[in-house]
Amino acid sequence: MGNRIISVSHITKEIVLGNSKNKIKLIDDISFEINKGEFLSIVGPSGSGKSTLLNIISGLSIPTTGTVNLESQDIYKLSPTKLARLRREKIGFIFQQYNLLSALPVFENMTLQLRLSHQKIDKDQIEQLLKHINFEPKSTARIESLSGGEKQKVAIARVLATDCDIIFADEPTGALDSVSREKVFSMLRELTQLGKTVIMVTHDIEMASRTDRAVIIRDGKIQNSLSNPTETLILHEMGGDM
Ligand SMILES: Nc1ncnc2c1ncn2[C@@H]1O[C@H](COP(=O)(O)OP(=O)(O)OP(=O)(O)O)[C@@H](O)[C@H]1O
Ligand SMILES: [Mg+2]
Repeated sequence: MGNRIISVSHITKEIVLGNSKNKIKLIDDISFEINKGEFLSIVGPSGSGKSTLLNIISGLSIPTTGTVNLESQDIYKLSPTKLARLRREKIGFIFQQYNLLSALPVFENMTLQLRLSHQKIDKDQIEQLLKHINFEPKSTARIESLSGGEKQKVAIARVLATDCDIIFADEPTGALDSVSREKVFSMLRELTQLGKTVIMVTHDIEMASRTDRAVIIRDGKIQNSLSNPTETLILHEMGGDM
């Protein structure tokens, strides 16, 4: 047993469509635990509930039932202000759709969270981070002038610039070339070696096979949880359903 950092217990997420008789269960009774320093991947077919699950665990979206404990705090029992503060101080999130402020330059996007949480901004470190993941444009470039892959790199570097304990990444490398993908993966791996915890949604079976544990999601449920997964094992669980 490692040192537990997150505990997800019997969470469900239902949404109501049109009239209240039409309920859809996006997440159906999911429970699992994550240890400090663990690199966990979440895999599953498109529409299986991966992003919904990540949003719930990271404090962005309240579950219909169930609890999420982060370092033994029931996060949805916190006041909105306290939850926002906990997210700012402990959590980094790399969004599937990047969530950058398109009218602002790269540098301002990367430092906004640091400013909000009164952390010091090290300009050289930020330039280094961008360079390290092969980001070619200048940090003064505006987001709207960037390609999808470049935006993804900014979203990743933004989180790497913060000193958060837990990093949630929703398809962080989907828009990247293989060299950049490999760099991002090894940076995430290094963070876990420093004791940070990484939870990554991915379609990339090869990458998932190099994480500590792969949780396979299907129809809003955990189909299986594989420690030290291999590509073959994950593919087998997926039943060729990627
Ligand atoms: N607010 C919402 N209203 C209606 N349906 C929703 C809502 N949010 C998610 N869904 C549906 O819930 C299901 C799960 O969505 P989710 O985005 O979590 O899937 P995913 O596994 O992340 O998929 P992908 O691999 O394509 O990113 C999908 O069928 C989606 O259409
Ligand atoms: Mg998704």
